[in-house]
Amino acid sequence: MQRIIVTGAGGQLGRELQALAAAFPALEFVFADRGLLSIDDPGQIASFFDDNRCDWCINCAAYTAVDKAETEKEAAFRINGDAPGWLARACKVFGARLIHISTDYVFDGSSSTPLREDDRTAPINTYGASKLEGEENALREHRDGTLIIRTSWVYSEFGNNFVKTMMRLMGERPAINVVNDQIGSPTYAADLAAAILHIVAGSHWAPGIYNYSNEGIISWYDFALAIRVLIGSSCQVNPIPSADFPTPARRPRYSLLDKTLIKKIYGLTIPDWRDSLEVCISRLQSTPKNK
Ligand SMILES: NC(=O)c1ccc[n+]([C@@H]2O[C@H](COP(=O)([O-])OP(=O)(O)OC[C@H]3O[C@@H](n4cnc5c(N)ncnc54)[C@H](OP(=O)(O)O)[C@@H]3O)[C@@H](O)[C@H]2O)c1
Repeated sequence: MQRIIVTGAGGQLGRELQALAAAFPALEFVFADRGLLSIDDPGQIASFFDDNRCDWCINCAAYTAVDKAETEKEAAFRINGDAPGWLARACKVFGARLIHISTDYVFDGSSSTPLREDDRTAPINTYGASKLEGEENALREHRDGTLIIRTSWVYSEFGNNFVKTMMRLMGERPAINVVNDQIGSPTYAADLAAAILHIVAGSHWAPGIYNYSNEGIISWYDFALAIRVLIGSSCQVNPIPSADFPTPARRPRYSLLDKTLIKKIYGLTIPDWRDSLEVCISRLQSTPKNK
């Protein structure tokens, strides 16, 4: 029986992993939310790993408040930058593998072709810089035992995200504005969770950096339009340029991740963004009270 520590278990991805766990009876999970394990404390990490000997750690914990990170740099760099290194070190000491989640925000968004794992990184905000540092620290501590998955535009039934915000606003307002000049692909956290457990449950291990998002290419505006159709809203959705929606942290204009590598090495079939959005919205509409 393989034992897996999941950090940040209370977040979107952590909760999707919890929802999937029962489908993997050969895996034993230790779901650690922030109350059980705070990854910004290296001493706590070491004693938690000592108490809960594991074969894998899936790090879903992160400082994800992209705009707030601009004024809380120290916290962002400690949680996103230092902690992955501490987790990787603990994994190495106790003979475990680390699956760490990173982001398209390690890139500057100037590309016009799908981003490959070995493309030049150049973050344009604090969150992206802190996540890049986390990648580097994890790989430095435990290169042969670390697999990093960069993902983008994550949403799920759980927590706060673009899909749930749009559903709420479309129910409250006659019209909303959504940026149409940031391009990428959303990631349904349930699909990402399934991909991660496919890797953990499989027999093949090829560490390194991989990309994962749903298939397809859209703007946030396109995403909002699709949400509107699926929930049957009559709210008007207006396309606007990012310049009309200033935020403390700059966002990359182009975030589309090339998924060729993870599909080839791990034999994954990745769902199209539209199919996954439909699944998420129907789950939200069938059990909204639990979310
Ligand atoms: N969300 C996106 O659009 C997006 C895009 C690209 C990549 N990613 C990456 O994907 C991964 C999963 O993201 P997500 O959307 O699931 O994030 P999320 O919903 O914000 O969950 C992150 C979790 O980490 C916890 N956490 C924060 N600081 C912690 C600490 N010091 N110790 C332990 N836990 C801590 C949070 O707890 P509290 O809520 O109590 O703070 C939260 O439960 C992250 O690595 C993120 O950087 C996300």
